[in-house]
Amino acid sequence: MINTNSLENTDKFFWHRYDSIYTQELSNLENVKKIVEFGIFKGDSVRWLNREYPEAKIFGADILPVQSEWTINDAISYYQLDQDKVSDIQNFLNITGNEIDLIIEDGSHFPKHQKNCLVEGMNYLKSNGIYILEDIHTSHPQHDYYTKDGKNYISPLHLLLFIEHHRSIGVEIHEDKIKELTKNSLFNFNEIINLINTIKDIKIYRRSTLPLKCYNCNSSDYNYHILKCKCGADVYAEADSMTAVLTKR
Ligand SMILES: C[S@@+](CC[C@H](N)C(=O)[O-])C[C@H]1O[C@@H](n2cnc3c(N)ncnc32)[C@H](O)[C@@H]1O
Repeated sequence: MINTNSLENTDKFFWHRYDSIYTQELSNLENVKKIVEFGIFKGDSVRWLNREYPEAKIFGADILPVQSEWTINDAISYYQLDQDKVSDIQNFLNITGNEIDLIIEDGSHFPKHQKNCLVEGMNYLKSNGIYILEDIHTSHPQHDYYTKDGKNYISPLHLLLFIEHHRSIGVEIHEDKIKELTKNSLFNFNEIINLINTIKDIKIYRRSTLPLKCYNCNSSDYNYHILKCKCGADVYAEADSMTAVLTKR
């Protein structure tokens, strides 16, 4: 059983409350040998992965160079890359190699960067491996990361909702529908086909409770009438704390 106690310093735990999702979703992974995480920040998540999967090789990627607080040992390697550059991601994944058991994408959270990592990363995941796309709420129509790049375009969230919806209602996805999704879209036709073919299972979670403490001021002293922290931060926004968990076919 995965232990998420040591994640308490990360927003995975105190803000998004993804810890229970991790516990549940990662319980099916066995014999984990290779893990990739995009987005290191202070290194807490990489340290947690290293503790939980001591036999696994962990590849962390960030736009930052190696920071003094990041744990250095034989199991962990760090790469500097920009998620905006597909070639950077491809070079990184050429180094990690395929047969990755788990990819956690927790980088910039810009929809275009999420798309770049998703499209490239799925090719390197092993069968039944798990891809966690954290903070996919940045593609929610009400989120400013989404609206800053346009309106009503197909983002990773839109595409995953489309695939999940068609599968749930038992309707086959035809070529004309895919062509429609390439208009005003982050994805081209082949990228959509490849994702439809490689993703076996899609779960999208959304935090429905309050964060444990405020990301802005660290307080847990909320105004419950307006569901805001006393510092003014919204603790119950519509476009917040959504994460997608994908299993590879
Ligand atoms: C949310 S933090 C990662 C937190 C970490 N995964 C954890 O749970 O402890 C996001 C990280 O993404 C990195 N980042 C921001 N823009 C990036 C980009 N364009 N390419 C790669 N990394 C980026 C930031 O430097 C930051 O370290």
